[in-house]
Amino acid sequence: MDLTKLHNLLDSLTLQEKIGQLVQLSGEFFDATDISLGPQRQLGITQETVDLAGSVLNVAGARDVRRLQAAHLKKGRHPIPLLFMADVIYGYKTVYPIPLGIGATWNPDLVEQAYVNAADEARAAGLHVSFAPMVDLVRDPRWGRVLESTGEDPYLNSRFAAAMVRGLQKNLAAGDGVISCVKHIAAYGAAEAGREYNPADVSTPSLFQDYLPAYKAAVDAGVKMAMTSLTTLNGVPATADKWLLQNILRDRWGFTGLAISDYASIYELIQHGFAQDPTDAASKAIDAGVDIDMKSPCYATGLQPLVTSSRLSEEKINTSAWRVLKLKNELGLFEDPYGGTTEEKEHTRLLTPEKRSLARDLSRQALVLLKNDADILPLDSSANQRIALIGPYADEQKMLGLWAVHGDPQDTVTIKAGFADYLAPQQLQTAKGTDVIRDRLMFTGMGLAEEQINQTISPAADEQKNRSEALETAKNADVIVFAAGEHTLQSGEAGSRTRLRLPDNQRQLLAELRKLNKPIVLIVISGRPLVLTDVQDQADAILQAWFPGTEGGHAIADVIFGRYNPTGRLTMTFPYDEGQLPLYYNHLNTGRPADKNHPTRFVSRYIDAPNKPLYPFGYGLSYGSVQYGELKLDSDTLAAAGRDELTAAISVTNTGTVPREETVQFYIHDQVASIVQPVKRLIGFQKVPVQPGETKTAALTITPDMLSFANRDGEFITEPGMFDLFAGPNSQDVHQTSFSLTE
Ligand code: BGC
Repeated sequence: MDLTKLHNLLDSLTLQEKIGQLVQLSGEFFDATDISLGPQRQLGITQETVDLAGSVLNVAGARDVRRLQAAHLKKGRHPIPLLFMADVIYGYKTVYPIPLGIGATWNPDLVEQAYVNAADEARAAGLHVSFAPMVDLVRDPRWGRVLESTGEDPYLNSRFAAAMVRGLQKNLAAGDGVISCVKHIAAYGAAEAGREYNPADVSTPSLFQDYLPAYKAAVDAGVKMAMTSLTTLNGVPATADKWLLQNILRDRWGFTGLAISDYASIYELIQHGFAQDPTDAASKAIDAGVDIDMKSPCYATGLQPLVTSSRLSEEKINTSAWRVLKLKNELGLFEDPYGGTTEEKEHTRLLTPEKRSLARDLSRQALVLLKNDADILPLDSSANQRIALIGPYADEQKMLGLWAVHGDPQDTVTIKAGFADYLAPQQLQTAKGTDVIRDRLMFTGMGLAEEQINQTISPAADEQKNRSEALETAKNADVIVFAAGEHTLQSGEAGSRTRLRLPDNQRQLLAELRKLNKPIVLIVISGRPLVLTDVQDQADAILQAWFPGTEGGHAIADVIFGRYNPTGRLTMTFPYDEGQLPLYYNHLNTGRPADKNHPTRFVSRYIDAPNKPLYPFGYGLSYGSVQYGELKLDSDTLAAAGRDELTAAISVTNTGTVPREETVQFYIHDQVASIVQPVKRLIGFQKVPVQPGETKTAALTITPDMLSFANRDGEFITEPGMFDLFAGPNSQDVHQTSFSLTE
């Protein structure tokens, strides 16, 4: 529709019809036969509200989308199509590893392609908007939602944010993309003590330097929607923060798209103690710049009285309604309200071999080899070894993680199925050994019904039998592979935990297996960095596999049997102990840093645990070996004025016998600055494939803007002075040099 016509449409709408465009309800509202009963009524949602609503939350699939859209178009004076929005965070039906694993690939190009595919599936299934990417910077793995983030580094998170936005929106014009909605603005990941929905208190320099860059990168990449956070930021709920949503997001960054609240977060302004009642909440949210109210009654019931009593100008409603209509128009919904979705098209687009193949590649690039004593991995499938594949994840399809809401575990390749591609049947014995978790109290505390709990926790006799079988199987094997991990419900939204160990029952079984004195490979399935300190010595090799997605079993087998030399590198620090949290590599120094060479008492340290993590940011092993050369600069000064640059280079020699790819990481430290700067911060990386015996050089061009930092006004400035530059395979094992930045 041309824009004049669209304007005419807006002008022809009544106030209540315009408000309707700002209301988002979930599927059950549209399917309800009698709205005068039940919870809808209590919320103040009437049949009229449903009939006028502008968008639908979490309904997907060609059949359902078409059905709801067709019914909706028959209602009301104007056939304004509904927008269908849902969470396609790391894949629709072809599910990728969780974003924390995606981060570990350090491969934004591949991720962009994966998100093109995710959008293709989602659009074919009738969706118009995906609530992705989630780009909240995370430093505390007690928070369950770390699984949805690519990690703790602003530079990497920004690269991934841009790649995901580009991928999702790439084929929009062709009708095969979806609108990307970046979330959660802002700093949801800074929830205090990692406890879900807790306040975020972040200093201005840290907010601009650490937390905001990834959202801004999404805006720069053209993201068309943004979602607010459920939390408060420095005392103001993000959903009503005009400074954040207007001054920063729109005025400073130039965002022109639609802003949506998170689930019921406008209503929650009351509970936060920021609004008096639903009308007050509506007033504050729309004034701050939130266009759509997700799943709360506030806009539906509050906006009209605000306008009619002149407490809110109708212009505000017009602006937001216009943004919604414009998005619908951009999607071509006025011409084809179904957005191209049909059951036939959907059928041909989901889980295709090409999409699965890319998912397999992404999944194996996400795997991080944490330990490999005596080069026990890769296993040689032709060596006729007997392998005991043991553990609750040995033959388990539920490896998608909590936020793969549309993925079906039945499509998932198990680790056992992956291994079976490499081994003759007599070489592979599988045993569950134990449940994922046997903690009844945790499930009861989460409100799970007894029946659901019983589906997860086996009766004691069965558990005993499983254990005996596993030990018997292990006794007859040459190598034990123990597939362990968190339960899906232990991470994700509302999955905050204070103890980040593998479940007790799994650790007990592992300890018993260790007594058999056989080589053990531990595979860890988890939605967060776990504290692996007490299982570290129980295994010869450890492979961090996250929730690896639909192709997880294939990917894990490819790495275990050496078809793929692991390249994954951690993007979130693995702590030594929960008491160290939050723990992250790009921290500030103190006036009394601990020095292990000169231990004294009054320094910044714990007396009962090291400061260091178990595995640092950037860490991960590959098969074979490499040697780094000296870190060299082509000049030891860089001028802030003008367009000066210098180049850093470091050589990498493959000293082993297998080809491998090295992810060379470059970090900077500003020695003296008016706002103290992190001990290290990533400014670039290069992936270097090296053949045995070959030497290659990784190089990075450094420009003055890469050395800037945020001041107390949130502005980026550059100060002349000395800078340390580091390069190496992770944030800890680095080569170092320095240069100066002049005026
Ligand atoms: C989450 C959002 C999500 C929304 C819609 C909320 O609970 O915080 O990330 O997009 O639900 O499903």
